[in-house]
Amino acid sequence: MLTLASIEERLFDCPGADQRRATVRAIEGELPPLPLGTWYLNGPAGFDAGSRSHWLDGDGLIRAVTFNRREIQFASRFVRTRKYRDEQRAGRRLYRAFGSGFPGDSLNGRLTGLESPANISVVNHAGRLLALGEQGEPWEIDPVTLETVGPYTAGGALSPVTPFAAHARVDPSTSELFNFGVSFSPERPMLNVFRFDASGHLVMRSRIPLHCSCVIHDFALSPTYAVFYVSPYVLDIAQLRSGSTVMDALTWRPELGTRVLLVDRMSGALVASIPLGRQYSLHTINCHEEDGLVVLDVIEMPRPVYDVYTVPRLFESPLAATPARMLLDPVSGALVRRQTIRCGCAPEFPAIDPAKAMRPCRQFWALGMSAARYTGAKFFDELIAFRWDDPSPRDTYQSPPGVFVGGEPLLVRGDEGSLWVLVQLFDAVRLRSGFAVLAAGDLALGPVAQMWLDSPTPMAFHGTFVPS
Ligand SMILES: [Fe+2]
Repeated sequence: MLTLASIEERLFDCPGADQRRATVRAIEGELPPLPLGTWYLNGPAGFDAGSRSHWLDGDGLIRAVTFNRREIQFASRFVRTRKYRDEQRAGRRLYRAFGSGFPGDSLNGRLTGLESPANISVVNHAGRLLALGEQGEPWEIDPVTLETVGPYTAGGALSPVTPFAAHARVDPSTSELFNFGVSFSPERPMLNVFRFDASGHLVMRSRIPLHCSCVIHDFALSPTYAVFYVSPYVLDIAQLRSGSTVMDALTWRPELGTRVLLVDRMSGALVASIPLGRQYSLHTINCHEEDGLVVLDVIEMPRPVYDVYTVPRLFESPLAATPARMLLDPVSGALVRRQTIRCGCAPEFPAIDPAKAMRPCRQFWALGMSAARYTGAKFFDELIAFRWDDPSPRDTYQSPPGVFVGGEPLLVRGDEGSLWVLVQLFDAVRLRSGFAVLAAGDLALGPVAQMWLDSPTPMAFHGTFVPS
């Protein structure tokens, strides 16, 4: 008999696999007129008995959901990183993973971190599709076949050990790509900030001292600034080099304080370093500017969450997370005002209407957990629309028992101007994966359409939509 816990554990029963491009035939409901193009997603897969200890341990698996005029197609393919190829050739694990390791395992070539599994996100820039890991070199993917082209160097600007994070961001108005990476060092930790022009050439790289040698997962862009929410989740690089996993080498040091760094996105110079208490944030929501102030929207938590990314008993502890909007003054270097949206659903994976990126944005969508307050394995089972100007009540879709929602939702505008939310589904009772389409303005109505795949695939993290 399936218990509630075993249902949640089944999220990782499907290891993920290369799946040839095939038409999605099981469609329930009526698909609205969605824009033509492909939704690419990336996230860890290939979990096996030896690596089932942390959600970030799997290898990157690119999924592609293509909306043609006549049909929807799905394909998936592992990113053939150096790690993946070496381990496939050897027939065993060779490299240390984020939360698991073994005697004799390897880091990257210069011992600056893990050999990247490219398992967090996928970004489209300058005509290239790039798979990115928590930190490491990007891997270029053929957008049609999903074959791995090879490591992406941006014309020699990036090496296999360049610190390069997963949440690279493209400014839709300039087509520039921005990213960052942390050089871990107990004495001189540095934030590296990168700007690439619309054709993919590196035009700026700056190095900014950090107040601690901490991991940073995401950042935000405004028209003027690259904005970094720097929480004191400190990585002991010596401990990593001496055999610890990343997870074991991380320590939450709230006494060091959290800061927001405002960096001039053209020059890469630090403009302000603003103390902000002792919270943690994994993901930003959006950032814009109003009357000379920077308005930064993030999901805040009282502490980091990586230690509850335990596979298969994910999110076993009660979770707290709060959307927070901060007004920051770059001139005085001060927090002017903070607004939070109180909720008990531990929201994560926030997404906005792409047309509102870097602009005033009243609304965002995120996943939530109905059981966030309770102890025991759990997963996201809500899709919620939040409003900054009217925090309650919230429009919510609650998935049926045993069905979960996953990853960063995708907001797309249909042919007739309607805004739709697409979200991954995993039916743990019937062991099947799919995607739901909901009206962005009426989530409570439930999906207007659900598409179910022939074979299950694990929940991915982040994606991008590339119009055809
Ligand atoms: Fe992320």
